[in-house]
Amino acid sequence: TEYIAVNELANLMGVSVSEVISKCISLGLMVSINQRLDVETITLIADDFGFEIELVEEFQTDVDADIPDPEETLKPRPPVVTIMGHVDHGKTSLLDFIRSANVVAGEAGGITQHIGAYKVSIDGGKEITFLDTPGHEAFTAMRARGAKVTDIVVLIVAADDAVMPQTVEAINHAQAANVPIIVAINKIDKPNSNIEKIKQQLAERNILVEDWGGKYQCVEVSAKLGKNVDLLLEKILLEAELLDLKANPDRKARGTIIESQLDKGRGITATVLVQKGTLKIGDPFIAGVTHGRVRAMFDERGKKVSEAPPSTPVLVLGFESAPQAGDTFVAVESEREAREISIKRLQVKREQDHRQVHHITLDEIANQI
Ligand code: GTP
Ligand code: MG
Repeated sequence: TEYIAVNELANLMGVSVSEVISKCISLGLMVSINQRLDVETITLIADDFGFEIELVEEFQTDVDADIPDPEETLKPRPPVVTIMGHVDHGKTSLLDFIRSANVVAGEAGGITQHIGAYKVSIDGGKEITFLDTPGHEAFTAMRARGAKVTDIVVLIVAADDAVMPQTVEAINHAQAANVPIIVAINKIDKPNSNIEKIKQQLAERNILVEDWGGKYQCVEVSAKLGKNVDLLLEKILLEAELLDLKANPDRKARGTIIESQLDKGRGITATVLVQKGTLKIGDPFIAGVTHGRVRAMFDERGKKVSEAPPSTPVLVLGFESAPQAGDTFVAVESEREAREISIKRLQVKREQDHRQVHHITLDEIANQI
């Protein structure tokens, strides 16, 4: 199991990241800034800097380390998909079309509330969860905090435009996070669309689509007319099958905060993407430095739900204070445990913040000299 990253370790010891990296190199380890280290390495490095590593009990539990579940407990789960692309290339239109076309009969007409994520059922009972993140910043922020929420990225490129800076950024993000990309060339209903040009420009970025002999699935769609969107969903399911996505539904829930909102009537609410386990009403939880107890849960149509299995986004009520996007959400046994861990984490955070301030000041002085 790997615990903290190189930069976190450097912060904790109050030394520079490059010092830690050179120490790793001297141990024969080529590491990057965000790379997580195992206990053995951490102990060796800390020792060199005159620190002693103490494994506190909570750090050995699933609360702090994401301990993998035994193979035999794993069951298939729906893929979690993020649509990324340049401004105005049609992310929202595509999400809207998928959502409205896949509203379960009987639920139609219900007011859709924005919770930053939703799950749709495709014919045949297969499900896909879409993250409706406001953009690359959210994705970047989550990645920077070590949260891996997306299984597949749909890269949307408008056929009447071109591969643009944010298209390239999206490619870079997805590749850095090692997430497979499916290309959706959008706006093919437009008379001035040029699909081959887009494929050409993607090829220049090493994104070679299937009919150009590459490995990237590509669908030509019109989000406006809904053309070929069903095909895109099929490709997503196909990609998901290859990934063989699984999670253990029969345990306490673990997930990630997608966004948090302050609701006039309901107070603090947050959208939680459950990634393993099943979240239930009444569950005490920790989310980042805050904690609480699940008082109520709603799906994206505002319908009350009592359970949220893996790959399900739910709006949760019952936070003591607002969590941050990208925070890890962990259901625990007791409210007391939740409160204790939350207090501890706040302390650690304060100490870290304090050290960081100190650090920046020293660096600044060094720069001035
Ligand atoms: P941002 O959120 O601003 O980054 O944009 P977006 O990527 O969400 O794009 P959005 O869905 O808002 O679409 C931008 C414009 O393109 C809107 O006017 C849409 O109506 C239009 N549009 C989106 N998809 C299509 C399409 O398939 N065909 C046509 N003709 N227009 C489309
Ligand atoms: Mg949009």
